[in-house]
Amino acid sequence: MADLTTDFLGIKSPNPFWLASAPPTDKEYNVRRAFEAGWGGVVWKTLGSEGPPVVNVNGPRYGVIHGADRRVLGLNNIELITDRDLQTNLDEITRVKKDWPDRAMIVSIMVPCEEQAWKDILPKVEATGADGIELNFGCPHGMSERGMGAAVGQVPEYIEMVTRWCKQYYSKPVIVKLTPNITDVRKPAEAARRGGADAVSLINTINSIVSVDLDTMSPHPSIDGKGTHGGYCGPAVKPIALSMVSEIARAPATHGMPISGIGGITTWRDAAEYITMGCGNVQVCTAAMTYGFKVVQEMISGLSRWMDEKGHTSIDDFRGAAIPNTTDWQYLNLNYVAKAKIDQDACISCGRCYAACEDTSHQAIAMSADRTFSVIDDECVACNLCVEVCPVENCITMVPMQAGTVDPRTGREVQAKPADWTTHPNNPGAVAAE
Ligand SMILES: Cc1cc2nc3c(=O)[nH]c(=O)nc-3n(C[C@H](O)[C@H](O)[C@H](O)COP(=O)(O)O)c2cc1C
Ligand code: SF4
Ligand code: SF4
Repeated sequence: MADLTTDFLGIKSPNPFWLASAPPTDKEYNVRRAFEAGWGGVVWKTLGSEGPPVVNVNGPRYGVIHGADRRVLGLNNIELITDRDLQTNLDEITRVKKDWPDRAMIVSIMVPCEEQAWKDILPKVEATGADGIELNFGCPHGMSERGMGAAVGQVPEYIEMVTRWCKQYYSKPVIVKLTPNITDVRKPAEAARRGGADAVSLINTINSIVSVDLDTMSPHPSIDGKGTHGGYCGPAVKPIALSMVSEIARAPATHGMPISGIGGITTWRDAAEYITMGCGNVQVCTAAMTYGFKVVQEMISGLSRWMDEKGHTSIDDFRGAAIPNTTDWQYLNLNYVAKAKIDQDACISCGRCYAACEDTSHQAIAMSADRTFSVIDDECVACNLCVEVCPVENCITMVPMQAGTVDPRTGREVQAKPADWTTHPNNPGAVAAE
């Protein structure tokens, strides 16, 4: 059976599934139950400085984008960091780590951008016996207005400076958690590396307003008639997060830097995809908040079964496997030609593909009087829109054309040899093809 154990920065865990810093990891009761359910590690809900804890709103803190079946697709929250006393958290972390030595215990921290604040808290966290720290430079609301969270994560110089303090005053691994609310995520990752970070984790939540109540004219969630932007997470953010992870994995300045992947991970497949993009493990929040801690059991069994099927004996066997196949647009093979094909036995004649292609694409689907839908190869540019809008899975497939055959749309022979934009005759800056 596949070995799911991971060694991330020397921190061992029985599987790559960690709970991200959030309500599921806010207290001893939760974390013990999470470990009992099988989670490989946790990042404790972000701790702040000693003193009066932060204050959360006493009204709704969540908003959701639902799918047609009321499945949670995107979750928005206006919660802050832990609102429990620092010492209570530290005591609980110490106890849980002692009782669960085989699980990863990371402590998330967010204190003011002053050296003394970090110097004060780091020895206390070190004394808990936790395996490492994660610097929360990502929280997009509330704390950022106080000069913390995303306010630090958006300034690479601050990231570098704070990371350096942490490496100076703390002896174990330092993970820098990045905000997606930035133009180029590679810049903060580079800054983290310069500051000596052992790893980056991403993403934290994305600035969001999920809806406006058209009666009260207040954004949702509304607190006594007023709303504010929150942080967006859940399945909807996975594509954004995966792309950001791939950018860090591919960039020469950050290539090879350990990454903990976060954002919309709901199934074992999501996790496997993050690992193929170079992640050494993954963190999960919304899926646990939606389905409960036991969701990890399906993640473990699914990943294990898939690894067995593929002959992968360890996570490292396929870690980073998709990076060489992730490239810039200019390197895509422009000699690759495909055509859409409709499986008439599977088709339910709904007409969605026709409407999409006829109105917004290339007028490449014909509809007969008896509602038979067929692709017109002379017009089809293989854009894939019909495949994506068809309600029947695998009813429409994209079939590559063989080299030597003639594309009826262009009248040109399909070439076996790949050629991309860098050598294309229409590109004024093209280099001569060999
Ligand atoms: C209610 C809530 C509270 C959160 N609090 C924190 C936090 O205190 N510290 C932190 O680093 N991230 C926090 N996050 C962000 C998550 O750790 C995670 O980065 C984000 O939810 C994306 O993962 P997901 O799509 O699996 O939910 C919070 C998320 C939610 C939903
Ligand atoms: S692949 Fe695009 S162009 Fe071809 S039939 Fe489908 S929607 Fe039309
Ligand atoms: S969208 Fe799919 S099911 Fe509907 S008509 Fe087109 S091929 Fe048939």
